Amino acid sequence: MNITRRTFLQTTTAATLGFPAILRAANPNSKLQIAVVGCNGQGLYDLGQIGSHPQAIFTGFCDVDTARFGEADQKFPGVPHFQDFREMFAKLGDTFDAVQVSTPDHMHAFIALDAMRRGKHVYCQKPLTHTVWEARQMRLQAAQSKVVTQMGNQIHSAGEYRTAVKLIRDGVIGKIQAVHSWQGNNGNGFTKLTAPPAPGPVPESLNWDWWLGAAPQRDYAPDVYHPFKWRDWQDFGGGTLGDFGAHILDPIFTALQLTAPISIRGENEGLNPQTWPSAETISYIFPGTAWTAGGTLPLTWHDGGRQPEPALAQMPADKKLPGSGSLFIGEGGTLLLPHVAMPQLYPQEKFAAFEMPKVAGASHYHAWVEAALAGTKTTDSFDYAGPLTETVQLGNVATRLPGVTLEWDAAALRFANQPEADRLLTKQYRDGWKISAVG
Ligand SMILES: NC(=O)c1ccc[n+]([C@@H]2O[C@H](COP(=O)([O-])OP(=O)(O)OC[C@H]3O[C@@H](n4cnc5c(N)ncnc54)[C@H](O)[C@@H]3O)[C@@H](O)[C@H]2O)c1
Repeated sequence: MNITRRTFLQTTTAATLGFPAILRAANPNSKLQIAVVGCNGQGLYDLGQIGSHPQAIFTGFCDVDTARFGEADQKFPGVPHFQDFREMFAKLGDTFDAVQVSTPDHMHAFIALDAMRRGKHVYCQKPLTHTVWEARQMRLQAAQSKVVTQMGNQIHSAGEYRTAVKLIRDGVIGKIQAVHSWQGNNGNGFTKLTAPPAPGPVPESLNWDWWLGAAPQRDYAPDVYHPFKWRDWQDFGGGTLGDFGAHILDPIFTALQLTAPISIRGENEGLNPQTWPSAETISYIFPGTAWTAGGTLPLTWHDGGRQPEPALAQMPADKKLPGSGSLFIGEGGTLLLPHVAMPQLYPQEKFAAFEMPKVAGASHYHAWVEAALAGTKTTDSFDYAGPLTETVQLGNVATRLPGVTLEWDAAALRFANQPEADRLLTKQYRDGWKISAVG
């Protein structure tokens, strides 16, 4: 097994970008040794993509459910197994440089912060975290540890999204007056459950206590949480906005260089104390940027079958809005960006002769491996993904206080006008699973 000697490299790329000039890097001629936490579901796809880089090598596989290693083993035989990531981190010591975090959302921050505090580079699935406060800690810790990070919204690097960013930046539809984003899903089937279902026997292969991790104690029940179905539950996931916001809002953040909203207002159908709503509309107001038309930019999120008024797109009458995507309304036309397909420009007559530029996509995964080896920066590092995730999770705060306009003081990490809402910026951590703030 190749044990990498860590070196500290100063790179012009990092310096020119104005980000921490020194990022902790492995030896670029060597391999990046990676430990995986969450080896099936999206984690299996992630490790397949990361492991396809010739300089990536896995030194540990961790999954709380030992029945879920099989496919990862087929792809990469012989990697040691662990059921508890804390044991894996301790045992691997210096024989890992980086961590892939692909667990359910409620454990991202707990695992990724531990890894960064050990000086490890992190690829962490979207949404980066389960709460606003955690997203802030991830950004601060990544900067303090000077590690190379990437959020797992891989479409960030896709040609379709990059094309949309280029069109907006090129001013093809002029300055942007408003944006709407939507996702057709209304949860994954559990949004109507108002209480945890009857307990059932825990599968022998699963350590339910470790799966729960930082979340409040509850009994295991078959087929409603693990695997995949945890998303609808407030204790574990972020509902439709949490699931898709980091994907769909990403090209808007990149193109318009958004950071933190000024205010957020939500309303929904079907919210209850256990599960996320079956439909919602979240109205964000952002400060204007060089790419927006006014002093502020309204950005509206719709889900559960809700969509913006199709007439806003200025499409021909026989065209329909896609099931999910974004609509940029510019001073000189509209840009419709389906999730995920090439952007479309309207009104059609105006852009009939427009030649769509070809913008190549890239592997989001390989970009992280290469940046970690070279000590450079990714485009989706936690100083970008943190504020994007704060915005997503601020929407989930607003949906729990329907009809209330929350004025956001990003610098102070609190609501300027609704101090009682501040408690929703974080959550209760189970004893033994507390996260300390970045000091
Ligand atoms: N980028 C994308 O396109 C995309 C797509 C799907 C899911 N995701 C994200 O990937 C993450 C995983 O989602 P999923 O649908 O694969 O969930 P899942 O429940 O299907 O799979 C999670 C895996 O992690 C394991 N696991 C759970 N808790 C663990 C822990 N504490 N330690 C180690 N292993 C643990 C589970 O046993 C399972 O194998 C989520 O954050 C989700 O939002 C991203």
